[in-house]
Amino acid sequence: MSNKLLSALFGAGLAALAMSSASFAADQKISDFHVDMGGGCETCHKDGSPSADGEYEFKQCQSCHGGLADMDAVHKPHDGKLKCADCHAVHDMNVGQHPTCDSCHDDGRTPEKILGKK
Ligand code: HEC
Ligand code: HEC
Ligand code: HEC
Ligand code: HEC
Repeated sequence: MSNKLLSALFGAGLAALAMSSASFAADQKISDFHVDMGGGCETCHKDGSPSADGEYEFKQCQSCHGGLADMDAVHKPHDGKLKCADCHAVHDMNVGQHPTCDSCHDDGRTPEKILGKK
């Protein structure tokens, strides 16, 4: 985990949640979860308003989480092709809810198959 991610966690007193994601409030939107870390809407949006092209938000994601190229086998193949928000609909999906593949790939692939969990 990057230092920036760790300090965001400790700043919000969320270190325990990093160890056990099962304790996340499952009915909370991913955006609200980020807002509650203390930075408000500005955590992702410049001056709190969404950009037209999503580039600013994409940079914000990467500044804490790192880039696609440095992530697991679900993320890596999309480096240079997608932004985080193409899969993670942060205002629509709840904490703990993972994106699926079938909106773009129609061959039945799943994150579990790619990660060798099933
Ligand atoms: C974790 C990062 C994150 C946080 C925090 C966040 N947003 Fe967003 N927001 C996004 C991204 C990415 C998009 C564009 C993609 C989408 O609509 O999901 C977006 C889209 C939007 C849109 C456009 C929605 C649409 O349907 O076109 C509005 C309005 C918005 N955000 C407002 C807010 C407000 C107000 C807050 C604070 C209460 C907030 N956002 C917090 C990442 C975030
Ligand atoms: C191709 C769709 C896709 C894109 C693009 C994508 N993700 Fe993901 N992400 C997933 C899926 C599926 C999972 C769950 C499986 C896994 O851990 O890889 C996930 C898991 C995660 C998790 C862990 C969530 C948990 O519950 O443990 C984080 C954090 C995350 N993504 C952040 C990002 C960030 C930041 C970006 C952009 C740099 C990004 N993702 C881009 C599909 C995507
Ligand atoms: C200020 C730093 C920061 C920014 C900016 C940020 N995140 Fe996060 N995000 C975190 C931390 C800290 C966590 C909790 C630890 C973890 O799950 O990695 C988290 C958790 C997540 C999770 C996992 C939630 C779950 O279901 O368990 C996803 C997905 C995610 N972020 C996606 C994004 C996306 C997409 C963006 C940009 C639109 C973004 N983040 C911007 C710090 C950030
Ligand atoms: C928003 C659209 C979108 C989603 C959702 C998506 N992908 Fe992709 N994926 C792409 C694009 C675009 C490419 C690049 C295609 C190319 O280069 O020909 C790609 C390429 C890939 C590749 C490498 C090339 C190949 O086809 O084998 C893998 C592996 C992959 N995706 C896995 C996944 C997995 C697993 C999921 C579900 C977690 C997923 N993708 C979800 C758009 C998406």
